[in-house]
Amino acid sequence: RDKVTAAYELKEFVDSLESPRKVILMVKAGPVVDAVTDSLLPYLQEGDIVIDAGNSYYKDTKRRMDHYAHLSVNFFGMGVSGGEKGALMGPSIMPSGNREFYNTYLSKLLTDISAHTEDGSPCCDYIGPEGSGQYVKMVHNGIEYGDIQIIDEAYFIMKNMLGMTNAQMADTFESWNQGRLDSFLVEITHKILREKDPDTGDDLIDHILDEAGQKGTGMWTAIEGLEMHMAIPTMAEAVFARNLSAVKDERIVAAQAFTERPSFVVEDVKAMLEDLEQAVYASKIISYAQGFQLLGKASREHGWNLRLGDIALLWREGCIIRAKFLGRIKDAYDGADGEVQNLMLTDEFRDEIKAAVPGWRRVVAKAIEAGLYVPTLANSLLYFDGYTSAKLPANLCQAQRD
Ligand code: 6PG
Repeated sequence: RDKVTAAYELKEFVDSLESPRKVILMVKAGPVVDAVTDSLLPYLQEGDIVIDAGNSYYKDTKRRMDHYAHLSVNFFGMGVSGGEKGALMGPSIMPSGNREFYNTYLSKLLTDISAHTEDGSPCCDYIGPEGSGQYVKMVHNGIEYGDIQIIDEAYFIMKNMLGMTNAQMADTFESWNQGRLDSFLVEITHKILREKDPDTGDDLIDHILDEAGQKGTGMWTAIEGLEMHMAIPTMAEAVFARNLSAVKDERIVAAQAFTERPSFVVEDVKAMLEDLEQAVYASKIISYAQGFQLLGKASREHGWNLRLGDIALLWREGCIIRAKFLGRIKDAYDGADGEVQNLMLTDEFRDEIKAAVPGWRRVVAKAIEAGLYVPTLANSLLYFDGYTSAKLPANLCQAQRD
């Protein structure tokens, strides 16, 4: 930290590094990565290492590794999560590329700058070859989209079905953050709900438009699910939810065409809030189960040998989906000797899902009765019902195809 040297020209920058040089790029994913790497080439020497730490598409990373290997430069793809706070306090780091080079030149450097858990373990470990680091980061972001949307639907139910104020919701999320839902996203949710608008003094959240943007990594995860023939509806619905939110003008027109909203009664608000916590927790398990199934399938398809339990450990600190819960995913893999068909079936989570289902069903049914848009809570439950059904209507589908 006391050895920062600023450089104003590329040559000056490259010359200031020890050989083999290790250059970490933090630039916008896409053609800029190629352009910046190409501009470094005249100054690099055989064996130097360039690490792309952006949210690049994993197939681009593989293409770059092959391309730059011909030019004797070792190209690494590295998933990094943590935003501004991660930049200051240490992020979660998911590096991929040549294993020997990683062990010899990068392991210490990257683990030193990564976030660390309370017990001192670094949130950085070698992921695998090719673009596997960026793939794991992409699925991390798909999970992030799912987590965000699950929380948003809980907020929506509290507000529109349970009639809670922002302060009451903030208190609820704060208490959830002290239990099994302890996570970065639940923590910032209660803080957001208490934030005041500096101009009006109102609660800030009530001045924010219900239109969510996106940069594309959640969408890539959903596309990857389709390409891999995997059912990952929780993460895909979270992307659809942002898409639907973005067509605000269309929604206003449609809302005017269908002004009648269903009437509903919630008899016991306290009991339904308890059901909601069950629904949120169970949907989260389902979402992670889908994410880890996708990682498992990709690992088999590409021969990456991903260590799924260890990947969960890398997300315990530093990153956006940071949560206590992740240590339990590692326990679930360890408990099953790494052979996990689906996280919801493991000793670690099976009983909790079982206990959550009745309340989860009640709250989803009531939200649908009330006309509320709760795609991730509902589709996680439908996924659970479909995945745990020995019989699905696919026999008719197959007959129709024939
Ligand atoms: C991170 C984040 C970061 C960003 C994503 C999603 O782990 O630090 O994932 O990379 O939040 O790109 O951004 P959008 O929500 O804008 O798509």
